[in-house]
Amino acid sequence: MSNVMVSPSLLASDFLNLEKEVEMLNESKADYIHLDVMDGLFVPNISYGMPVIKAIQKISKKPADIHLMIEKPERYLDEFLDLGAKILSIHFEACTHLHRAIDHIKKRGCLAGVAINPHTSVDVLNDIIKEIDVVNIMSVNPGFGGQKFIPLTYTKINRLHTLIRTQNANTIIQIDGGVNMENAAILAAAGADLLVAGHFVFSSDNPLQTIEDLRNVK
Ligand code: DX5
Ligand code: ZN
Repeated sequence: MSNVMVSPSLLASDFLNLEKEVEMLNESKADYIHLDVMDGLFVPNISYGMPVIKAIQKISKKPADIHLMIEKPERYLDEFLDLGAKILSIHFEACTHLHRAIDHIKKRGCLAGVAINPHTSVDVLNDIIKEIDVVNIMSVNPGFGGQKFIPLTYTKINRLHTLIRTQNANTIIQIDGGVNMENAAILAAAGADLLVAGHFVFSSDNPLQTIEDLRNVK
């Protein structure tokens, strides 16, 4: 069985030392770099936007996994695609014409991600799952790093896994929020392919080792 992939969330990094943090990730076994964009409307918090991501992209060697927690994300797809996103995720709850947005992202050669809040059932993706490259099951309410993992996530992974298999889709299951060493193995066993981890990585004494440990969960 292949390793679970890991996408460290830069939201938990030391913004005064962003260059060092990105270089640390470059040296790590991380599969992606997770970039959380918040608009203060879809979520109660505001994080960072294009200029910061542009600067990060100048030195980052990891594929950018950009998570848009913004209302009407279709307004900004091209700007984030131009910044070189490898995964561009938008929220089911924030986008009226989801099919069109997914289509647009994929036509530009990027993996199209759809994130769902903890209260949103995976069943809403039933008709569109074959079009989606990545489903991000939020395991916390989006808006802040360092929150507690919500256990109902496990059954959502099981159901999404069944949905993907039943329709022969080729969709990556991403889990975002409160991931740590206690739940990582259970998440991987339930069918998660890609784990986002912010605080657990950046507050660790040895982030390089922590990233490797997460990748090696069985
Ligand atoms: C939450 C963000 C997450 C967050 C994860 O709104 O989407 O990506 O940064 O951070 P931790 O692992 O600290 O919960
Ligand atoms: Zn995120």
